[in-house]
Amino acid sequence: MSYTIQGKHIVLGVTGGIAAYKSVELLRLLVKEGTTVRVIMTENACNFVGPMTFEALSRQRVCRTLFETTDEAAVQHIHWAQEAQAVVIAPATANIIGKLAGGIADDALSTFMLAVTCPVLFCPAMNSDMYASQAVQRNLRILKEFGHVLLEPDAGELACGTTGPGRLPDPPVILNAVQGLFAPKDFAGKNVMVTAGPTREAIDPVRFISNPSSGKMGYAIARAAAHRGAAVTLISGPTALTPPPGVRFVPVTSAADMAAAVLSELDRQQVVIKTAAVADFRPAVVSPLKVKKEQAELTLSLERTQDILKAVGARKRRNQILVGFAAETHDMERSATGKLKSKQLDLIVGNLIGSADAGFCADTNRATFYYKDGTSEKIDLMSKADLAHLLLDRVAGIKTED
Ligand code: CTP
Repeated sequence: MSYTIQGKHIVLGVTGGIAAYKSVELLRLLVKEGTTVRVIMTENACNFVGPMTFEALSRQRVCRTLFETTDEAAVQHIHWAQEAQAVVIAPATANIIGKLAGGIADDALSTFMLAVTCPVLFCPAMNSDMYASQAVQRNLRILKEFGHVLLEPDAGELACGTTGPGRLPDPPVILNAVQGLFAPKDFAGKNVMVTAGPTREAIDPVRFISNPSSGKMGYAIARAAAHRGAAVTLISGPTALTPPPGVRFVPVTSAADMAAAVLSELDRQQVVIKTAAVADFRPAVVSPLKVKKEQAELTLSLERTQDILKAVGARKRRNQILVGFAAETHDMERSATGKLKSKQLDLIVGNLIGSADAGFCADTNRATFYYKDGTSEKIDLMSKADLAHLLLDRVAGIKTED
């Protein structure tokens, strides 16, 4: 069972607000993730964006009315409701929120919604005074009581000229919330720390020593843990990635910065997962001024950085779970199990780097999990998002001594 959205059937409900243009981009992102999306638009939504745009991007007919003449259309809303694995209504106007809180079914979208049994995400977007109104707030509470998920609107400048909460969040943020609908909430109430990316060790103000870590594996784990209900702290060296929404992000640069951040956050964590590719060496002397090539020596004197994971292992409480990563070019089992013991880990993920589909910059990964009890588990090639969830499944299964 995959917790990611690839291959899932999703219904996108679009209602009549200025922000309907953002739903076009949301649809594009959903399709890019490998989902099948069916779009239902209200008549008002069609005044803002043409159904043709949604049809072209989803490669499916857009449903606008219950009263189409084809046989298929007659019970289409029931069929789509049975098939849907998640529904997202973006933007959700005060009108649709009120109708669905009250059980009113007077058009295609509201009728469809009464037949839906899968998880539903509402993305309210409207003027901030409308959003704050007692009626809308009461209706949102009712939708929450029904078990639906609400994505808070962003605060900012609104189309009506006022400033305040009411803006539809950006499409990647909505996509992230849709992905969250598919994850179990087995990490609710847990604090999870993830380290990711490379570190940079300065030679002078314009040069550094680093490595090609992209941060993708660590960010995928942080995102997956947040989807599973954890309070996530992501401590990351410099990467080109955007931190996942809803995650506490602590950017760092050097191994020493990362050590300080990790050790200061450690005590409140139940789970620590260290994917970061920490530099093992740094220049012994950092020049405060740019080193000119005429003056540069040809040898750079290096010193060891702190082994952060080893320090964490030494301070680990019995009820904390510690996971390390080992990127190896050869002799993986011996190196990974050696690190598992010396750093006092519960689990280490061994990666053989060197192929294009696994390791540093790839979107997929191939790994072996080595456990404290001496057992191991070989994992086939899969996306880093799926591997992140699989790792969390295994972490959830580790018993700690309280
Ligand atoms: N690690 C760390 N601090 C360091 C070096 C590594 O916390 N200074 C962590 C990494 O985040 C990873 C694990 O230790 O989870 C293994 O890292 P790796 O670079 O594979 O191992 P090293 O212990 O550095 O050993 P070597 O480079 O000799 O293989």
